[in-house]
Amino acid sequence: MSSSKTKILVVTLGIVLALVVIFSVYKAVDGDKDQQPSVTPTVAVDATTPTPDGDSGDGDDNGAGDDADGKEEFTGYPVRDTAEVLGTRLSERYKDCFYVGTCMKTEHLNDPNLVALVLEQFNSLTCENEMKPDALLNQMACMAEGEVTVVFPANTIKLLDWAKENGFAMRGHTLVWHSQTPDWFFREGFKSNGAYVDRETMLARMESYIQQVLEYCNTNYPGMFYAWDVANEVFSDNGDTFRDSPWYRIIGEDFVKYAFTYARKYAEEGTKLFYNDFNSYIPAKLNNIYMMAKSLQEEGLIDGIGMQSHLDISYPTAAMYLDAVERFSNAGFEVQITELDITTDANAAGHEKQAQLYNDIFSKLVIRDMATMINVTSVTIWGVNDGRSWRSYGDPLLFDDSLKPKASYYSVLQQEE
Ligand code: XIL
Repeated sequence: MSSSKTKILVVTLGIVLALVVIFSVYKAVDGDKDQQPSVTPTVAVDATTPTPDGDSGDGDDNGAGDDADGKEEFTGYPVRDTAEVLGTRLSERYKDCFYVGTCMKTEHLNDPNLVALVLEQFNSLTCENEMKPDALLNQMACMAEGEVTVVFPANTIKLLDWAKENGFAMRGHTLVWHSQTPDWFFREGFKSNGAYVDRETMLARMESYIQQVLEYCNTNYPGMFYAWDVANEVFSDNGDTFRDSPWYRIIGEDFVKYAFTYARKYAEEGTKLFYNDFNSYIPAKLNNIYMMAKSLQEEGLIDGIGMQSHLDISYPTAAMYLDAVERFSNAGFEVQITELDITTDANAAGHEKQAQLYNDIFSKLVIRDMATMINVTSVTIWGVNDGRSWRSYGDPLLFDDSLKPKASYYSVLQQEE
């Protein structure tokens, strides 16, 4: 080979090598960029605000990327990055103030991303439906036995076992309620077409039901339930009167007192007993709840008031809502926010307004000094993400359909004390 040909070959090889090196460096830098955690906002901004279709708009749901087969490859939880960058998470942020909880359905355990998020953010849990009377009362068994027969179904046990394995503190929800309680429970022979039973029979059934539910929990989940909603939604919506329900019609007004008497008798020592209701900031209803709870308190039967708190950005104001928290606290009750969600317009502006109201509420809830005597011991958000909420039409929760944190999440997390 001539020396000029050799030179050309060397130069060509050099150029090719240089191109390969430049290309690899470029690829490495580009790849790194993809792996950087996204910049996490330190104030409520719209970096995570979903587009109107509920997607975050970044085309990257649940931290999953595509692998070679076109299947979704799991690459981590976006919220985990968030917690790491902010240096905290909800349960950690409020650990010196109150439990921070959510509710779950058993089927939610099938979503590993939701499970990871719940484990990360919350330390208290409520079964969304799995411990309600219609879940635990078994008509066939009641008819066969001729007496109240509580059967914890596999579906409920699965969720409770998961809560136990993962160290959650639980709210029991709910013992005596007009809704999600089968009508046959109030009828002779537990038959769907039986006549309604009398007061004495119904009181005996109430005691038996409460005894069986609480004893099952005491035996299988000792120490796990820190609170029980003993009676739920007793007053009518406007608060004028008792709600018309089989409990009220058959037993009379004192059915609430009996419910608390039985719950106190069978609940584990240390478990707190709550009266739970919604719209409890509306003056007439607030007064009714207050008067009834006061008389239960005099007999040592009740520990606290559960404020469900299904709110909307347009009503009530934070001030009106917090007045009720203060009023109950000042009367010597523990207050637990048991089912908080705030509906809003499903767009970015709506989400910002919602973040403001969440912020206003949480900022006051952490004030527990003697001047205000606010005594909130637990705050449960009623659900994990908007898409799974019972009020999903109003995007009411802290995480969006794809489990990404919304402005409201940041506004709750970044409260100054
Ligand atoms: C709701 C659940 O979220 C729904 O899944 C179910 O279909 C109906 O009940 N007050 C309560 C809660 O005490 O138990 C209710 O939960 C919401 C209103």
